[in-house]
Amino acid sequence: MNNWNLKDKKALVTGGSKGIGKAVVAELVALGAEVLFTGRNETDLFNTEQEFKQQGGRVTAISGDVADAAAQNRIVEWIAQHWGKLDILINNAGINIRKASHEYSVDEYNKVIGINMLAPFELCRLLFSLLQKGNKAAVVNIASVAGSYDVGTGAPYGMAKAGMIQMGRNLASEWAAYGIRVNTVSPWFTYTPLTKGLLSNPEKLDKIISRTPLRRIAEDNEVAAAVAFLVMDKASYITGQNLAVDGGITASLL
Ligand SMILES: NC(=O)c1ccc[n+]([C@@H]2O[C@H](COP(=O)([O-])OP(=O)(O)OC[C@H]3O[C@@H](n4cnc5c(N)ncnc54)[C@H](OP(=O)(O)O)[C@@H]3O)[C@@H](O)[C@H]2O)c1
Repeated sequence: MNNWNLKDKKALVTGGSKGIGKAVVAELVALGAEVLFTGRNETDLFNTEQEFKQQGGRVTAISGDVADAAAQNRIVEWIAQHWGKLDILINNAGINIRKASHEYSVDEYNKVIGINMLAPFELCRLLFSLLQKGNKAAVVNIASVAGSYDVGTGAPYGMAKAGMIQMGRNLASEWAAYGIRVNTVSPWFTYTPLTKGLLSNPEKLDKIISRTPLRRIAEDNEVAAAVAFLVMDKASYITGQNLAVDGGITASLL
């Protein structure tokens, strides 16, 4: 067996109803995994669940806000009850509130940091014992190039993603002893509902494309492919890394 698959793997993807998370669910399912995914808007969530099921995908959707303790507990209980272990955790759900730092209210930056950084840490903590029972378990956190550089997307988002990148390094060191790998994927601008407004502005789009060495915006499945590789047993010696899926932007200063 060549191991370029995710057969018999059980995976949780937060924020799987749209965008990058939905592409990750599709990739994991195509490679043979069974996937539990989450989202807040129930119409979007259950439509996506139906879509995957109609294509024969083994998926289950659970609604709830990842930053809400009751929702976190519901997710953990579902996994404990149905699978008794977890092989793959993808912390993907994220949001941004685009505005100048001095215009932020405390509630707004707490929300950005809570959803993007604290919720993934809490889910990692709550799911630790189930990941320990997993088969060569792997975690991937979806951060952003904004976690390493100012890309004009606001300080709280950059702060949260930087924290997530460092969380990946710390957990990778701590959890290596338990056989759990932890990596980060940092996308650059990718076509999703989150960036639809921004990327429909021709001036902004031209500016981003002209500075990106590959001269285009990423598709969601290009990010998902990197995620799928990192959670596969084929990536067994890779942990604690932050992989930029960025068309070359972080390698270029012009
Ligand atoms: N697109 C980009 O250019 C880009 C670049 C760098 C990094 N990223 C990161 O990639 C990740 C996915 O982004 P995306 O562009 O795919 O976003 P998106 O199109 O807005 O999709 C986000 C997904 O997460 C869910 N979600 C959001 N907040 C949630 C919450 N509090 N609890 C549960 N589910 C939640 C959304 O569903 P509901 O809204 O129904 O909850 C949706 O399924 C994010 O972490 C983002 O920061 C994106």
